[in-house]
Amino acid sequence: MPRKVALITGVTGQDGAYLAEYLLRLGYQVHGLKRRSSLFNTNRIDHLYQDPHIENRNFVLHYGDMTDSSNLIRIIQETQPDEIYNLAAMSHVKVSFDSPEYTANADGIGTLRLLEAVRLLGFANKTRIYQASTSELYGLVQEVPQSEKTPFYPRSPYAVAKLYAYWITVNYREAYGIFASNGILFNHESPIRGETFVTRKITMAVARIALGMQDVLFLGNLSAKRDWGHAKDYVKAMYLILQQDKADDFVIATGVTTEVRDFVRMAFGEVGIELTFTGEGADEKAFVKSCSHPEYQLPVGKQVLAVDKAYFRPTEVDLLIGDPSKSKKVLGWEPEYDLKGLVKDMMESDIHLMKKDKYLQDGGYRVFNYFE
Ligand code: NAP
Ligand code: GDD
Repeated sequence: MPRKVALITGVTGQDGAYLAEYLLRLGYQVHGLKRRSSLFNTNRIDHLYQDPHIENRNFVLHYGDMTDSSNLIRIIQETQPDEIYNLAAMSHVKVSFDSPEYTANADGIGTLRLLEAVRLLGFANKTRIYQASTSELYGLVQEVPQSEKTPFYPRSPYAVAKLYAYWITVNYREAYGIFASNGILFNHESPIRGETFVTRKITMAVARIALGMQDVLFLGNLSAKRDWGHAKDYVKAMYLILQQDKADDFVIATGVTTEVRDFVRMAFGEVGIELTFTGEGADEKAFVKSCSHPEYQLPVGKQVLAVDKAYFRPTEVDLLIGDPSKSKKVLGWEPEYDLKGLVKDMMESDIHLMKKDKYLQDGGYRVFNYFE
């Protein structure tokens, strides 16, 4: 059997890294689109790197950008992929309010460029396309829980751009018969999650606070509720979505929702620190109530959390909770991690990383990366 060829846009991101690892394990040749940047942006995939002089490499990176049609056409023509996973996006909801036009271009029109490239190259019957759609599409939710049938109500420039990407994917499927599917993924996190998303911001800060390297964690809306899963489980769903007989759209979620405030409690709980919360809204604070871990002892009553209104969003998504029944039934997808397992995985990794950071701060020197 010739090995299957996959092209992953956004290969340097959280999901791109896990998906590349997963597909390589399945025997695929994986091509990844990476952006040129003035500093290396390949930390998450450095362990997969293969020297260009190796014959018949199975992992190859190409410079490119979702805002550049001609480069997408060239890369697709050169690699002739059986499957394209379109994960590239300006993916930060709050930042999309600051860069709405760029977000629309990269996340919305970028998806159109990819679909058009496949069509123009005559690959409509060869190349299957996975589109990274999002639970942000539900925004001001019209139904609880949210399923494939729930109407969309996007609440940010990011979500509106992704709404275009969702529908243009459906349209190319219906108009040209391209195998193009949307995965409507609810929030998924991991030890390699971007450091400005709330879960990773919390686990990194908790690790630093426990080690005496940070004083207080500043967050925005503590009452927002999210359906959080583990990215390792979610990339398996992406793969399954492209292995079906028929292109279709699927919700991928755990079906459990949790407040940001409770994620904070759970993360501190992993280092044996119990919190008490006082106040409301912008005045809410959290203090150390007790410390049960011998290594992480903080003074009882110490403030560890405050709210900073700068992190509030002009329009917020208050509640997300997905109904994954269809993906469980049709794809046979079952996540391995629950929220407790996810928080534990992230906290263990960040404690490990911060201990090394502390070692460096204390004058030590050591080269390390996320996957050590
Ligand atoms: P991420 O960590 O932010 O990764 C985004 C990737 O896209 C990075 O590789 C980034 O490159 C790349 N990228 C950004 N703009 C680009 C452009 N103009 N051209 C080419 N590449 C570009 O995001 P993620 O968490 O892995 O999410 C993957 C996809 O799923 C995204 O489309 C996201 O919107 C969507 N999604 C994520 C979640 C979630 O909870 N994680 C849920 C639903 C949907 P750099 O490394 O150079 O920045
Ligand atoms: N980032 C961040 N930083 N969020 C905070 C903070 C903070 O300091 N404090 C509270 N929050 C709240 C946000 O207001 C939001 O309600 C929630 O925490 C989650 O924020 P993020 O982790 O930034 O994720 P998101 O839900 O906005 O978006 C992520 O998930 C989407 C899927 O639903 C991103 O990965 C998107 O790309 C993805 O589509």
